[in-house]
Amino acid sequence: MSFRLTTRGLTIAAIFLTVVVVGIGVALAATSTPQFCGTCKSHVPYIDEYKKSAHRDVNCEQCHSKPGPFFFLTAKLEALQQPIAQITGDYEKPILGYVLNQSCRRCHNNDLLFHPVSKNGIRVQHRHLIEAGFLCMRCHSTQAHGDAVPPGSRTYPSMDQCLICHNNQFKDPQGQVATSRCDLCHTKPNYGAVPLTHKQNDWATRHGAVGILSTCSACHVKKGACSDCHKGILMPHPAAWISEHGVIVGKRGGNKACDQCHDTKEYCKTCHQVKMPHPAGFVDSHPAVTAQKGSDTCFNCHVVANCQACHDLHAAGDPRAHKLLGGANSSLQSTPTPISSPIAGGG
Ligand code: HEC
Ligand code: HEC
Ligand code: HEC
Ligand code: HEC
Ligand code: HEC
Ligand code: HEC
Ligand code: HEC
Ligand code: HEC
Ligand code: HEC
Ligand code: HEC
Ligand code: HEC
Repeated sequence: MSFRLTTRGLTIAAIFLTVVVVGIGVALAATSTPQFCGTCKSHVPYIDEYKKSAHRDVNCEQCHSKPGPFFFLTAKLEALQQPIAQITGDYEKPILGYVLNQSCRRCHNNDLLFHPVSKNGIRVQHRHLIEAGFLCMRCHSTQAHGDAVPPGSRTYPSMDQCLICHNNQFKDPQGQVATSRCDLCHTKPNYGAVPLTHKQNDWATRHGAVGILSTCSACHVKKGACSDCHKGILMPHPAAWISEHGVIVGKRGGNKACDQCHDTKEYCKTCHQVKMPHPAGFVDSHPAVTAQKGSDTCFNCHVVANCQACHDLHAAGDPRAHKLLGGANSSLQSTPTPISSPIAGGG
């Protein structure tokens, strides 16, 4: 079989192509409407809320795909697989969406976002948020779907998010300090003095674990505001705490200075099974101590590289020392052990 190029053949091909292109266009437009999306059962609550929202005139695709024709198409191809999942029931519940800042910013452009705006009694400047890489979703996840968004995923603008920077210390690249002056953001009087977090039942004891510690100084400006209650211990612990805490324990009258937060019977032993500072001649005695306490104990303070500094040199001819690292948790001890973590062994 062979083809001959004729004018008639070309015309037919051209018409065919046009029909296909127009067809795809119509299909893409039709599958972007709430009506089409609403044919998926799981989307119904999302659409009901959407119809009541400020975004009711915004097409689904405007948020749920990246800007630009290329991403519009790939989003479509992905979305086409969704009806299949709806029939087989093969989708995760609750479904959580993810909307890129680019999508929101096609309408909410820099004219709006790079100037201070006031709404609901709050004045905000989005520029710093965007420059610091905040997602719009971090504060506005309910914009299109209200309470259809599952509780764990619902976000609204909240003060702690602002005070992360507005702590009288953070500076923008131009050197402007972000202050915590209340009326910088609060445009209405009577906003109250005590944050909602403080009204949680267990705030008196759990405030360190629940709150964002870098935000506290926005209001607790008096010297000793925290440490008066904390027996003079600075919170969070200062950077060089590992090497300094021994001296502080001595100055503050022993372990009692620590027991407000740490279970001193168990917690301190996670590291202190091995004598500190290490006794004289420890290089000679450490094999015996390691045998007795287990090498895991060492890695509360050491990283494997500390051991390797000596052991690698000897390992070339004698690989015995390599075994001691087998099965040990060898990651750097950067995340602190839970405050009252139980320990194995004794000492
Ligand atoms: C203004 C932007 C915006 C518009 C317009 C919008 N959505 Fe959403 N949508 C979101 C955001 C933000 C989330 C994520 C909520 C969360 O945190 O779980 C979401 C989540 C969803 C989810 C759950 C997760 C997922 O991706 O499957 C569905 C379903 C959904 N949207 C469907 C729709 C439909 C259908 C339309 C059109 C009727 C629509 N959305 C229009 C912003 C939008
Ligand atoms: C296609 C354009 C478009 C996109 C995309 C879009 N919005 Fe909107 N947004 C609007 C319009 C239109 C309004 C209503 C404006 C008005 O009422 O003044 C609005 C209003 C808002 C409001 C004020 C709500 C209120 O109650 O008045 C917020 C906040 C908002 N959008 C955030 C977002 C976020 C976050 C995204 C991305 C998840 C987004 N928008 C995506 C067009 C858009
Ligand atoms: C750290 C929290 C936070 C983030 C992140 C955030 N916003 Fe906002 N946004 C606010 C606050 C606060 C307001 C004003 C108070 C309110 O609307 O309740 C606001 C208001 C708005 C408004 C309404 C403005 C008006 O005049 O009606 C729009 C639109 C908006 N934001 C869009 C966005 C977009 C788009 C992004 C992502 C680029 C974003 N926001 C990221 C906190 C945030
Ligand atoms: C990533 C750090 C950062 C975060 C988070 C942040 N800001 Fe800012 N903000 C700044 C910096 C820096 C300035 C500039 C210094 C100044 O004017 O105080 C500023 C300035 C402002 C201004 C003054 C704008 C002007 O030109 O008058 C307002 C209002 C404001 N922020 C509100 C907010 C609100 C509300 C939030 C939370 C929703 C917030 N900011 C979160 C860094 C931040
Ligand atoms: C950088 C902006 C910013 C500054 C500065 C600021 N606030 Fe807020 N504040 C907010 C935002 C945003 C909210 C949440 C708005 C909402 O709930 O509608 C809020 C909410 C509150 C609330 C309601 C409870 C809560 O925890 O959400 C209280 C009370 C409050 N602020 C007190 C203060 C006081 C007192 C100061 C001054 C020491 C202050 N704020 C400074 C942005 C700020
Ligand atoms: C009224 C006395 C009091 C004040 C003021 C106080 N604290 Fe506390 N704090 C406590 C008590 C009591 C505990 C918990 C002991 C326990 O767990 O039983 C605690 C625990 C903590 C913890 C450990 C929480 C955990 O479980 O991880 C941190 C961190 C902390 N506080 C930080 C602060 C900071 C920062 C301030 C100052 C803004 C502050 N505290 C002010 C009494 C206070
Ligand atoms: C918006 C201002 C504001 C911020 C931010 C703030 N606090 Fe407070 N806090 C207060 C006020 C006001 C009181 C009541 C002070 C008083 O009674 O003298 C208080 C009281 C406390 C108390 C004493 C509670 C009691 O039972 O006596 C603790 C503990 C505390 N705050 C911890 C914190 C911690 C930790 C943070 C940071 C995660 C923080 N606060 C952030 C305003 C704030
Ligand atoms: C993460 C491991 C770690 C934990 C947990 C730990 N320490 Fe230490 N401790 C050290 C290190 C390392 C030194 C030696 C610091 C130096 O000399 O530079 C030390 C030294 C000391 C010293 C001085 C040396 C001595 O034995 O006389 C005292 C006292 C001390 N710690 C008390 C405590 C108490 C009390 C706790 C529990 C509240 C505790 N430590 C929890 C690692 C730890
Ligand atoms: C107010 C509560 C509180 C008090 C009092 C307190 N701590 Fe802590 N400590 C914490 C919390 C919370 C962490 C974990 C977060 C951190 O590193 O700040 C921690 C972490 C530590 C760590 C591990 C640090 C690291 O980098 O791995 C050591 C060691 C420690 N504390 C020793 C002590 C000693 C010794 C005392 C008494 C002198 C003490 N702490 C008093 C709350 C407290
Ligand atoms: C509480 C934290 C901590 C623990 C646990 C710990 N070390 Fe150390 N180790 C240190 C510190 C800090 C140094 C460096 C300061 C010094 O020489 O005392 C050190 C130094 C050493 C040295 C070099 C001594 C020298 O004289 O050059 C050896 C070897 C050593 N440790 C082995 C071990 C072994 C093996 C274990 C486990 C059985 C262990 N360490 C457990 C904190 C610790
Ligand atoms: C200052 C150098 C040095 C450092 C650092 C060091 N070691 Fe050693 N280690 C030695 C020497 C020397 C020997 C003796 C080798 C021999 O006799 O076989 C040894 C032997 C041992 C042995 C006995 C080996 C065997 O198989 O019989 C163990 C277990 C051991 N080290 C554990 C550790 C651990 C765990 C660390 C890190 C926490 C460590 N060592 C850090 C020098 C060091």
